[in-house]
Amino acid sequence: MEKYIINGGNKLYGSVEVQSAKNSVLPMLAASVLTDDKVKILKVPNITDLKNMAKILSKLGCKVVFEGENLIIDSSSADCFEIPRELAHELRSSVFLLGSVISRFHTAKIAYPGGCDIGLRPVDLHLAGLKRLGVEIEEENGYIICKCEKLIGNEIMLDCPSVGATENLMLAAAKAEGTTVIKNAAREPEIEDLQRLLNCMGAKMRGAGTGTIIIEGVKSLHGCEFLPIPDRIEAGTFLIAAAMCGGEIELKHACAENISSLLHKLRENGCKIHLNNDKIILENHRRPTSVKSVETQPYPGFPTDLQAQITALCCICHGQSIITENLFETRFKYVPELRKMGADITVIDRNAFVRGVEKFYGATVVAHDLRGGAALVCAGLAAEGRSEVLDISHIDRGYGSFEYKLRSLGGDIVRVSI
Ligand code: UD1
Repeated sequence: MEKYIINGGNKLYGSVEVQSAKNSVLPMLAASVLTDDKVKILKVPNITDLKNMAKILSKLGCKVVFEGENLIIDSSSADCFEIPRELAHELRSSVFLLGSVISRFHTAKIAYPGGCDIGLRPVDLHLAGLKRLGVEIEEENGYIICKCEKLIGNEIMLDCPSVGATENLMLAAAKAEGTTVIKNAAREPEIEDLQRLLNCMGAKMRGAGTGTIIIEGVKSLHGCEFLPIPDRIEAGTFLIAAAMCGGEIELKHACAENISSLLHKLRENGCKIHLNNDKIILENHRRPTSVKSVETQPYPGFPTDLQAQITALCCICHGQSIITENLFETRFKYVPELRKMGADITVIDRNAFVRGVEKFYGATVVAHDLRGGAALVCAGLAAEGRSEVLDISHIDRGYGSFEYKLRSLGGDIVRVSI
């Protein structure tokens, strides 16, 4: 077990490079199962979600090698179509493998996935979509068992624009017979990135980034080398930390367009933001003013993965804010922890009502999930006094070298074993 010890109050100054997007890289690992050639993903983040996904691929018989910052997957020796319970439970993205594994073996067995405990997170849309492609599905003892003679393209209408379901269906349809059209598809930048990778591998897909994705199935896919997009959630977390602590930071290898909903809110807060090619510079020297309301929405709306961090920021703004979580029902678990640091928040259903206080005070708090944990670190950095953030394994799932990067900006944060 490890924890962070943070001595808050330092302003943040300096420059950090944004990692490749976790949510791009994870489905890309699943995509590598669709070919016998090597797939090389460049500059992958050093995070446990990725290591767990690599473990699952090894279990399937793939050879996965980390070469410096790059990851090489060779699926030519893949010979197993079962994802066991202990691995699937650690990582929700294991469900993305369903589409690839069924495409490769025409059969797949996967335990119900795990991941962050932030709500029900059903997989019904993934399964309904796969059925439309000709897959027969049974559920048995907590396992989903899929079988098909072959995958056949079809029109699929998603009830809601699920990111994971859209990606899973793109993976399943890439080598299906005929054309697949996914309607009401999610429009997240990571979906466009997956389309770019699959097209580099020889797939014929278009439309990702819009609500309709058209996939003409191809007979086979080949290997490629690919650089994923920057992680908009990591970038957003650093920007929010700087808005809370004050100072001036520069993000390198960032994509402002992909977080324009956040930049809009930060400007409302009174932060100055300058954009320069792939750099985002945030400057703030005053107590921020409240943003009134933030509502999480599918892309291009405000991302649910930055909800906890922006709430932490609102806590020390001048004025009141309402934050509404529309995607996941239990994503306010960090609120009692922020209260220990002096936050004034009332949660009613999907809304957090925040009355800004002058500052946070250091306290011992527990991370319950990835993004909530990151929000507690931001609060600790901005707080007066010493904080401890426990259970940081949640944070390690999605932020590579988090404390190193924060220290390089002047944050006083160390990792300690307990
Ligand atoms: C992905 C991201 C996650 C982000 C989320 C929303 C990855 C690895 N994870 O998760 O970081 O928070 O998008 O942007 O990319 N739903 C159903 N049935 C389904 C699938 C989803 O009802 O079969 C619902 C969910 O309960 C939720 C909503 O759809 O309310 C959105 O979920 P979804 O977009 O699928 O999120 P994930 O792909 O799990």
